[in-house]
Amino acid sequence: MVDAAGINAAVVQSIGHHIPPGRQTNDELALVIDTNDEWIRTRTGVRTRSRAAADEPTSVLAARAGAAALLGAAGTEIDTVVVATTTPDMKCPATAPLVADDLGLTGVTAFDVNSACTGFLAGMSVASGLIAAGSSRGVLLIGAEKYSSSVYELDRGTAPIFGDGAAAVVIRPGEAGEDGAIGRVHLVSDGALRYLAHVKAGGSHHPFSADMDPHDPYLRMDGRALYRHAVAKMAETCQDTLRARGVGVDEVDMLVAHQANARILKEVAGKLGVDPDKALVDLADIGNTAAASIPIALSRAHHRGGLRPGDTVLLTAFGAGAAWGSTLLRWPAMASTATSTAARELSQTGANPFEHRSTP
Ligand code: COA
Repeated sequence: MVDAAGINAAVVQSIGHHIPPGRQTNDELALVIDTNDEWIRTRTGVRTRSRAAADEPTSVLAARAGAAALLGAAGTEIDTVVVATTTPDMKCPATAPLVADDLGLTGVTAFDVNSACTGFLAGMSVASGLIAAGSSRGVLLIGAEKYSSSVYELDRGTAPIFGDGAAAVVIRPGEAGEDGAIGRVHLVSDGALRYLAHVKAGGSHHPFSADMDPHDPYLRMDGRALYRHAVAKMAETCQDTLRARGVGVDEVDMLVAHQANARILKEVAGKLGVDPDKALVDLADIGNTAAASIPIALSRAHHRGGLRPGDTVLLTAFGAGAAWGSTLLRWPAMASTATSTAARELSQTGANPFEHRSTP
């Protein structure tokens, strides 16, 4: 449990997700803004986007995902809940204490991480640091977003893209060399790029005011510039991670990048020299779920048999801040936590993209 330097390693023990069943189709969106199904499908890969119900704020999505992850975490005592989100229930307090309360976890540390689409990777870094320092014996890390609440419904640059959902992992102390151990997480930011994706109003710089533009409380995005930076920076940080960990690009079994846009994911793979078939694309039915997108992609791949114990998984994200990062994870063996959501989704969608991969 303690490595040669006397430091605990942090290990991913279990994973689960919750995707609300509501969907908005491209045709439905085209009734509201000047767009069409063909443009959205070919430019983003999104066919429908997930929509949480009015009485299902981010904390509820997060708690449901957290409960699913806890099913597979026997023996781990959770003393810390970290929620990565940019769509908190309220500006104050943080969402994590609400989630801990919903889950009946009393007396725990609970706080949010806001690093936009890179939030889950930032959360992994924080969680493994807490465990390495001996400050925690078990972290429930959740990426959760209700982006339908943060998108201006008339904005054709963001409304087609974003969806709602959550996924969670339980992280426990363990050995540095075991599958699931979280190693170095490479995180970078550049605040000079703050206006690439931002919500203008409601903070201390631009408090809500009677004369603000109706778009001001919602997300604005310079899609074209973000696209360029996202491809370049995700490829760059992945190269850094592979180099630092001494792993060759041909050893990567799956590239799980933040699910911003299907074209971005293929371009990052191309730039890295990763076989495009190894770039996971998992946004067609739910859209871009920001801080939740990486854990949702991992959880769905795991539950569909697309990830096998020992697989080398390269994780990377780029988003508002700008903030970006990457890490490598050797996928651990996990107790089966096929949640009701996962089971329902599989029966709804029918097609399982990983059917060809035999489960161990
Ligand atoms: N429906 C139909 N047409 C649209 C449209 C929409 N919703 N939005 C833009 N267009 C049109 C534009 O008017 C433009 O038309 P023109 O060529 O006649 O002027 C054309 O499509 C191209 O516009 P552009 O903005 O360059 O589109 P794009 O190919 O860059 O795609 C995004 C837009 C947002 C999908 C894409 O830029 C993207 O995914 N960016 C990255 C987002 C990201 O990484 N976010 C990370 C943080 S969450």
